[in-house]
Amino acid sequence: MRVLVVGSGGREHAIVRKLKENKTIDHIICAPGNGGIAADAECVDIKATDVEAMTDYAVSNDIDFVVVTPDDPLALGMVDAIEAKGIPCFGPRKNAAVIEASKVFSKNLMKKYGIPTAGYEVFDDAEKALAYVLEQNRWPAVIKADGLALGKGVLIAQNEEEAREAVKELMIDQSFGEAGNRVVVEEFMTGPEVSVLAFTDGKVIRPMISSMDHKRANDNDEGLNTGGMGTIAPSPFYTPEIAETCMREIFLPTVAAMNAEGRTFQGCLYFGLMLTPNGPRVVEYNCRFGDPETQVVLPLLKSDLFTIMQACHDGTLEDLDIEWSDQACACVIEASGGYPQKYGRGYEIFGLDENGQCEGVTVYHAGTRRGNGMYLTNGGRVLGITAVGRNLSEALDKAYEGVNRIGFKDMHYRTDIGGKLRDL
Ligand code: AMP
Ligand code: GLY
Repeated sequence: MRVLVVGSGGREHAIVRKLKENKTIDHIICAPGNGGIAADAECVDIKATDVEAMTDYAVSNDIDFVVVTPDDPLALGMVDAIEAKGIPCFGPRKNAAVIEASKVFSKNLMKKYGIPTAGYEVFDDAEKALAYVLEQNRWPAVIKADGLALGKGVLIAQNEEEAREAVKELMIDQSFGEAGNRVVVEEFMTGPEVSVLAFTDGKVIRPMISSMDHKRANDNDEGLNTGGMGTIAPSPFYTPEIAETCMREIFLPTVAAMNAEGRTFQGCLYFGLMLTPNGPRVVEYNCRFGDPETQVVLPLLKSDLFTIMQACHDGTLEDLDIEWSDQACACVIEASGGYPQKYGRGYEIFGLDENGQCEGVTVYHAGTRRGNGMYLTNGGRVLGITAVGRNLSEALDKAYEGVNRIGFKDMHYRTDIGGKLRDL
């Protein structure tokens, strides 16, 4: 089998490494990949969003199966295009990827099918949006761009001034382009956040181990929102009882709702949940594996990932038993100083061996490239230093021990990943 993985981040590296365990796969290609992925797969320089070039590549290189991972190619219909050529893919079609690509779609879906989420209103007019926020006079107010905005399209306003600024940024200045043509104004929720990724073939849904992201750039959840600065799995907040409630009230109803809308979802469906005092609520859906959630979830998967991916495509997920380790996993992101704003590139990374790894931890590469025989920084999030342990505390200790040995100029990382959860 020849398998093509589309994407270039730490998440894709984790997927590639897991796929390597399957003995029927003899060649893995990653497009575009990165410096560290190149030690595990053949990297081909095609942009993840170039649907036409990716499709041509798959057809002319005898690819047997394609894993489309990032949100933009899914929203652009890459799965539809490649499957139209007769090559099976893991990932939702365009009409199902809309569950992430449009917050207005997903909020309306949840309302229509009674799936618990924050109350909301939709606006395509800046004045009306602001008037509504001011009239509600409930703070903080949550204002979200409808479309994809690199995870940065959610603004939380603490007062009138910030609300004016948020509406202006999204709708008038269009900082996220057309994504801000419409906004969702949403009720503010409180409680621990949990990410649950789930495999689905459109008929059954199999949640993976729960995880928890740390989105803010700095310790104590301060600073700007990022793509994610670190993760732990499982989340100690996600009890079997809560899992059962989520299955009944959120996961199964979502699969059924997408089917009822003629938008059957196949692939990895990501539930961003908040465990509020009134029960679990959906904060957001993603149509794909999370990054860096994948980096802590897949190391705990005991079953074969490729078999599961094929079953999601074939509609045979019901026949599979999926087994998980009872250990814990932690991932600490080493980022470039300045991320998520301006940062430098091209710094030498210390502490890695020839394969971009380091003993005692698994190093998932995100923004790296090879140059002059070295690994160099090449993005905001550079590496995900990951370790499995008997419990969360042990996993975190091992991961941070790795962080102490691997680094680069101007490196920034959070020292408190999983901190509050160690002793729960
Ligand atoms: P999203 O991209 O929709 O996941 O939002 C990014 C982050 O903003 C979430 O992870 C939450 O921390 C926060 N957030 C989004 N919506 C709400 C809400 N309704 N109430 C409180 N926090 C929210
Ligand atoms: N870590 C959150 C995401 O992948 O969107």
